[in-house]
Amino acid sequence: MASQDKPSGNMLWGGRFTGGLDPLMVHYNESIYFDKVLYKQDIQGSIAFARANAKNGIISQAEFQKLEQGLLAVQKEWETGTFVIVPGVDEDIHTANERRLGEIIGKDVAGKLHTGRSRNEQIATDMRLWLRDELHAIEDHLRAFLRVIAARAEQEIDVIMPGYTHLQRAQPIRWSHWMLSYGFAFAADLERLGEVIKRVNRSALGCGALAGNPFGIDRDMMAAELGFDGLLWNSMGAVADRDFVAETLQWGSMLMQHISRWAEDLIIYSTGEFGFVRLADAYSTGSSLMPQKKNPDSLELLRGKSGRAFGHMAGFMMTLKGLPSTYNKDLQESVEPMLDHVKTVGDSIQIANGVLATLAIQPDKMQASLDPFMLATDLADYLVRKGVPFRETHHISGRCVALSEQTGTPMNELSYAQLKAIDARFDEDIADVFDYEKSVEMRSAKGGTSKSSVLEQIKVLKAMIG
Ligand code: ARG
Repeated sequence: MASQDKPSGNMLWGGRFTGGLDPLMVHYNESIYFDKVLYKQDIQGSIAFARANAKNGIISQAEFQKLEQGLLAVQKEWETGTFVIVPGVDEDIHTANERRLGEIIGKDVAGKLHTGRSRNEQIATDMRLWLRDELHAIEDHLRAFLRVIAARAEQEIDVIMPGYTHLQRAQPIRWSHWMLSYGFAFAADLERLGEVIKRVNRSALGCGALAGNPFGIDRDMMAAELGFDGLLWNSMGAVADRDFVAETLQWGSMLMQHISRWAEDLIIYSTGEFGFVRLADAYSTGSSLMPQKKNPDSLELLRGKSGRAFGHMAGFMMTLKGLPSTYNKDLQESVEPMLDHVKTVGDSIQIANGVLATLAIQPDKMQASLDPFMLATDLADYLVRKGVPFRETHHISGRCVALSEQTGTPMNELSYAQLKAIDARFDEDIADVFDYEKSVEMRSAKGGTSKSSVLEQIKVLKAMIG
């Protein structure tokens, strides 16, 4: 059967289509080995298509029933792992299913299934159905992760740690505040995902190869049967469109960028030098050489896989660029990045969730890393409250920092006399400033790190999780 076996197969002078394909071309062209994951969507789409054609009288009811039974039998073979792919013949999932259908119910009826239909609309339909369901599952994973963030933020609200800018100790914050900083980024990802799903879940079925269906097929009926939210409104656009894949890849790249940064923070926090957190054994591994090591592999993989996710997106954007109208085989290159991306992103969210849910924090280490210098702004703010312009207080506090450095005395241990000598407007209550908890509680405007502000954030986040 393999046409490349014909003598004329590989001859340079072989006329158009008279010979077979170059064997490597057969392999290069086929997508069955990856698009077979779409078998169910392909079959469900075919059943909907046949039903609509029966309604129109293009095929009889009896023929429809035969087709449906046959298609379900093919589906069963996939499900039970008994479907046998014929190499070199089953180019993609659409041709494979149709070939097998013909073997099961006979070619006379099977040959009517594809009436008015193109693989161009089929692949778009299959991918959209598959992606819609996968993205719903990812939505659930993301919600579960956000719930852990909210729950931990609530439980551990009293833990105070250093907050960083430029990775330098900046101001004290609540550990919950750190968790919520990422929580809101992930909640925005959840919002965006809802938008993406809206555009994924549109039906291309009934658009034909590019110009539309010549038998007046009821597209709305098929869309409803397949659970689509609506139609793609231009048949040429519908078969050309892989923006729904690009958008998914862009969405996933952004999410992975958030996960990567989150992981990087935790990798730093888990070092011996920081010691703020300890990963559960379930998410770390040892070294084959150094017995003392406990490596944050889970977090490193999350960080590493963000590059892979971005790569899918950047690569596929290049594939799309410059394609002429409607279907071109380049579009087949949308399938593999989509499959790998969705798996990578879905797994990553679940791993991130597992890491966070099992992470042990070390509040003592966090506390011990706080430094009185982190209260230098509070010192400036103290004088602001006494009516001194901030620009001036910033300067005064800077001189206190300098004195502390010069004398080797921690800033909170400078004597009242030393401070008074720097600025006469310091009163005895200046001692109260050197309190991390107080510093945190001062930041009580909405969005700040005080307890009330953090509790409010948790409330807002929970509402966003839905
Ligand atoms: N395997 C193809 C793809 O993934 C299916 C569509 C083929 N269409 C065509 N005109 N050759 O894009």
